[in-house]
Amino acid sequence: MRKKVIAGNWKMNMIPSEAMRCIEELIPLVKDSEAEVILCVPYIDLFYALLIAQNTNIKIGAQNMHFEKNGAYTGEVSGEMLKSIGVEYVIIGHSERRQYFAETDETVNKKVKAAHLYGLKPIVCVGESLEQKEAGKTTEVITTQTKLALDGLSKEQVENTIVAYEPIWAIGTGKTATSEDANNSIKEIRSQIAKDYGQDTADRVIIQYGGSVKSSNAKELFTTSDIDGGLVGGASLKADEFAKIVNFNK
Ligand code: PGA
Repeated sequence: MRKKVIAGNWKMNMIPSEAMRCIEELIPLVKDSEAEVILCVPYIDLFYALLIAQNTNIKIGAQNMHFEKNGAYTGEVSGEMLKSIGVEYVIIGHSERRQYFAETDETVNKKVKAAHLYGLKPIVCVGESLEQKEAGKTTEVITTQTKLALDGLSKEQVENTIVAYEPIWAIGTGKTATSEDANNSIKEIRSQIAKDYGQDTADRVIIQYGGSVKSSNAKELFTTSDIDGGLVGGASLKADEFAKIVNFNK
């Protein structure tokens, strides 16, 4: 059986003092969690977050990385740099990065490969816009994004990749996909992975749902057949609310 993985995506929020306070509050609330708990924090918070979360069950991730190892890329941070301080996860291709920072399927794929090269686990985001949904293109969009993001990876690397299905229209809007629709879309993503890498690999890949996840809808979403947890934005900024999502089954 696949483990549930609940990741917080703080986006551009939390200065280090707030980050440390939030994680300190979270530690006792999630210490007995059966789910894997990850916090993806801004670069500036990484070191502080890693220190506070040391020897706990909270894992720390970044929200982006460059695909090159090093070089003349002013303002960028590489996978090697993240790994060197103990970061374990990295979100790749979040829709906000695709929309505001010209991230493409090609750069997403390069970053996913680079993440594996440096021993980081990528959390790759895919999802359709409202326009695409209304045009009946959801399956086509999300299966194509998945295929392109994972292109060229070995089966083992695919199994060590988390996919987050995040319908863009549900992010930060308070509108959540129904658990049935989200589960069906995730099944489509899993079928695409099965086509490309075999059923065994597809059965092992963690596929999360993201988009207005909160404590009031977490249980319904996460107890479906194929949703293996969530990528949580706004609701991950408050320790007690995020803890309730992590402990959705209690
Ligand atoms: P949200 O964001 O939970 O605030 O909708 C999710 C995400 O963007 O990862």
